[in-house]
Amino acid sequence: MKVGVVVWAEGNIVKFRVAEGVRVERGQLLKVYDKEVKYILRVFDFRPESLLTPAEIARLSHKRERGEDVVLYDKSLRLYDTAIATIIAQIEEDAIVHGPTSVPSLFSNVETLDELDLEQLNLDNGDLVIGYVRIGHKATNVEIKLKGEKVFPHHILISGVTGAGKSNLGKVLAGAVMSVPEPKYSLVLFDTESEYFQGARPGLFGLVHLPEAEERLFYVSNIVSEPTKVEFRFTYKGVEIKRRIFVHPLEISYSKLYPLDFILTGEFTPPQEELLWLAWKTKRSDWLEFLTESTTSLIYRALSKMAHVNTINTTKRKLRHMLGSGEIFKKNDVETDLLQAIIGAVGRGKVVLVDMPHATEGEEKLLATAIARRIFKVYEEIRKNAPHEWEKLPYVMIMVEEAHKYLSKQSLTGISDVRENIFSIISKRGRKYKVSGLYITQMPGELIEPVIRQALTKIILSLPTRPDYQKIIEYSPYLDEASQELKALDKGEALVVSPVSGLRFAVPIKVFCFEDIIKEKLDEELAFKSVKVLDKKKYGKTFTTSHDT
Ligand SMILES: Nc1ncnc2c1ncn2[C@@H]1O[C@H](COP(=O)(O)OP(=O)(O)OP(=O)(O)O)[C@@H](O)[C@H]1O
Ligand SMILES: [Mg+2]
Repeated sequence: MKVGVVVWAEGNIVKFRVAEGVRVERGQLLKVYDKEVKYILRVFDFRPESLLTPAEIARLSHKRERGEDVVLYDKSLRLYDTAIATIIAQIEEDAIVHGPTSVPSLFSNVETLDELDLEQLNLDNGDLVIGYVRIGHKATNVEIKLKGEKVFPHHILISGVTGAGKSNLGKVLAGAVMSVPEPKYSLVLFDTESEYFQGARPGLFGLVHLPEAEERLFYVSNIVSEPTKVEFRFTYKGVEIKRRIFVHPLEISYSKLYPLDFILTGEFTPPQEELLWLAWKTKRSDWLEFLTESTTSLIYRALSKMAHVNTINTTKRKLRHMLGSGEIFKKNDVETDLLQAIIGAVGRGKVVLVDMPHATEGEEKLLATAIARRIFKVYEEIRKNAPHEWEKLPYVMIMVEEAHKYLSKQSLTGISDVRENIFSIISKRGRKYKVSGLYITQMPGELIEPVIRQALTKIILSLPTRPDYQKIIEYSPYLDEASQELKALDKGEALVVSPVSGLRFAVPIKVFCFEDIIKEKLDEELAFKSVKVLDKKKYGKTFTTSHDT
């Protein structure tokens, strides 16, 4: 459909007259054909074009104010709307998408995109499907698929205000990872709200409802006391459906923790770190119990007065804060080895979901650090010692919810020094080892710049505050004119920037609603079941299915 005519073109900017009666939206993708080249435009602003004199405007507005009709005889020649757009790509005869190197001529026609145009933009040739391409607020039928192999090693940043749809997107992404037939990717999720497994509220869905969860989900929770498969049942459209999911208890014994698990939270000063190492050298596997249980004076003496009393006291307090009250970290030995089990699961391409609704902030930080550190260490070692084995390992991405807590300037700067934590290390060095971060935050403005820059895939949901969108725009390609658009996104709407995935511009998308994905899969499952029931009836075999229960 024709929506306008080009009236000006300069640099990467095109201004076009909007055809009468047509509505063009901010963020909309459009095309212009000119001399065998198809230009793809993205609208970012509007401006009325007026040749009326100030006297005429005063007279006409005054008339309207008094309720009189305003008739402008040569209106279309003297007053019209224009839209301003950036040229985001040009497609030449070879059908290959290039960055823009020319502009369309004046008076070329501007048209809406059809599905063929969208297909040409190669938005759906990846393997991780997360939503539909959007035109204005309307979703099209064209899916947006990220290329996991390219996207995974370079980190993903998901940002959006509260309620914008970050957790929904997290679930969609986890579902996409599980749906890839081979175990090429693994994902580690920490859920402090208990919203990922069964959904945040009754009636909503979670990862357990995915048929793939039986094979691909590794669930860590305190609902079991030993690693085992647990059967979860739920009813959908009156039919009971079962899932057998592997569940590992959420417990780690003190003896499995090392000084680095604490140090790499970034919470300890150099003298406190020294104390941790000293205790480790002196007491080995009892080091943690020694530091948390013994009196300060005993520690002071046992360590030959090599640590300051104040340092001992503060360190004890920090350790206790992180170890919590014994729900997750246990003084006594436990029979399981969660950290080892997670490494195994990651190596087999699972989605590891650590469900910890009751964890304190300290416990969460220690657990996330201990897990991330092991994964990074193992991948690094395998890469160095057995590169052929490393080649075969899945790409692993570790989710950091509230990423600003770990990766802000404030969290990474001590009184006099810059303190690294495991996530700042992974954001810098993980790429080489196939280990990366999935950073989720409502306050990207707080993040340190390298994290924003190094997250080569950014999915930006509604972000109304200036310091937040400004920071993202500053460190991302293709977003120069996008501030108005970022402010106006609805729930679940996003812009995706992912040059590594072959996207040459910020793609407007509507993220799938996770509930819709599940319903579609469950409908398929039910249809499949009824076909199987019919089959078995035909051959006279006995059967039981959930239809009969
Ligand atoms: N793509 C979407 N399509 C339809 N509904 C959505 C979509 N994304 C999110 N929602 C709905 O919006 C609500 C908020 O979403 P969600 O919990 O994902 O937001 P959030 O960004 O994680 O918020 P918070 O910052 O509070 O954690 C939920 O009820 C969810 O079902
Ligand atoms: Mg959330």
